[in-house]
This record gives sequence, C-alpha cells and structure tokens, in this order.
Amino acid sequence: MALPAPAAHDRFGQTRRIDGWWINPSAFAATFLVFVVYSTWAAFQPREFAHFAPYTSPFFSPDLTRIIPGFKWSPALLIMWIPAGFRFTCYYGRKAYYRSLVFSPHACAVGKGDRNYKGETGLLIVNNLHRYFLYIVIVLVVFHWIHFFDAFDFNGKFGMGLGSLVVALDTITLTLYVMSCHSLRHLIGGNVDCYHCACAGKPRHNVWKAVSFLNQYHNAFFWISLAAVGFADIYVRMCAMGIWKDVRFF
Ligand code: FES
Repeated sequence: MALPAPAAHDRFGQTRRIDGWWINPSAFAATFLVFVVYSTWAAFQPREFAHFAPYTSPFFSPDLTRIIPGFKWSPALLIMWIPAGFRFTCYYGRKAYYRSLVFSPHACAVGKGDRNYKGETGLLIVNNLHRYFLYIVIVLVVFHWIHFFDAFDFNGKFGMGLGSLVVALDTITLTLYVMSCHSLRHLIGGNVDCYHCACAGKPRHNVWKAVSFLNQYHNAFFWISLAAVGFADIYVRMCAMGIWKDVRFF
C-alpha cells in the first residue's frame, strides 16, 4: 500500500510506516562506525604488524614510506585517505550515510523535520570528486593484485595458506567493487549518443555491458569488500602478533 509522504514540516522521524524501515539505516550506521573506529586505530599502529610473510595488510599497501625517507608515522596514514575518500563519495555510500548518519532523509515517507536540505552544494560538494578518487583507487587495485600474487609465493615456491585466501578475497572483492562503480560505468559509456549506431558489438560496448552487469550488485560489493579488507588487516595483524597461527595448506 502506498503511504503518503510526510510534509516537510512533519516532526523528525514521524511516519505511518509500520515496517522495519529503520533496520537498514541502523545496521549501516553501526557497521560503518565500527569500521571507521577500527581502521583509524589500525592506521596509527606500527608497520611491524602490517606484514606476515608472504602476506601484506591492505591497509598498508603500497608502503610509501619506503620511497619517502624519514617518514616516522605509520605508512597507512599516507594511503588510507584514498579508499576512505572513495567510499565516502561512493554513490551507494552517500545514499546509505545520508539515511543512517545524516538522516536526510531517514527513509521514504519518514519525516525529517524542518531541516534545510542543501543537497551537495555545501560541505558535501566534496562528493563530486568521486571520479578522481576512482582514478587513484585503480592504482591501489594494481598494488592489491601484486600482494595477491605475493601471498602465494612462499620463498620462491608456489604455496597456499589460509592467509593467501584471505588476501585473495580482499583483492577480488575490491576489484569487483571498483569494476561496478557508477563513475567507471559513466567513464566507459559516456559521450556516446547511441550505442547501437556507434559501438554495438565493439569492445567498448562489451566492456560497458560487463560493468553494467556488475553495477547491479554494487551495494553488495560495497559491503563484502569492506568486510574483506577489514578482515585481511585483522588476519595479518593477528598472525604478526603471534595470536593466530597461519594454516599452511601446501
Ligand atoms: Fe560506488 Fe563509485 S559509485 S564506488
């Protein structure tokens, strides 16, 4: 049944909805805040816990302190603003935190009070930088793939441990998240008025179709890759601290 949308002056949170509209925003807020707190803490930790051969924590990749001599702080501080900015400006991420953290709006047909909605013209104009974050993140994905291959290299021999699978999961899901990005889809498919006339059957059209297919699952890739990158850091850290023991399959 269609519910009438509340007028702008309706009380904050007022609604006639009786479904669990608040569950998704609340779950997002809780998960997102946990991740932000953990990743901020991890970024300030020393680099000794960023590696457990042959694995590297994705939070510390690439280690720019190796090419910036004298940098005393954690290498993660030089890198983490890139994926953080990418996710903060992500089209799906915006929808999620507008609803769960900014409450603008909370959900469909839920009152938001007399709040002055400025869209993305105020502080959030930064969201228009998303495509530039995409360009930089594509470079990070290349480094993730280098660590992916490193994770199967045990002193020059091909091998596999549980950590190899953890690093692989992070790399593959991050790649899918980036490949399904709306900006990437626009980048590939933009400036073409008619695919049937200009590109049908051509490589560019096929790439656009592949990205469009992945784009349907962008929300899921957002969450799965977020969980995978966090767990990869925890796994490497725990092994490096001697709390967990890596399982070696062969
Ligand atoms: Fe989500 Fe680009 S729109 S990563």
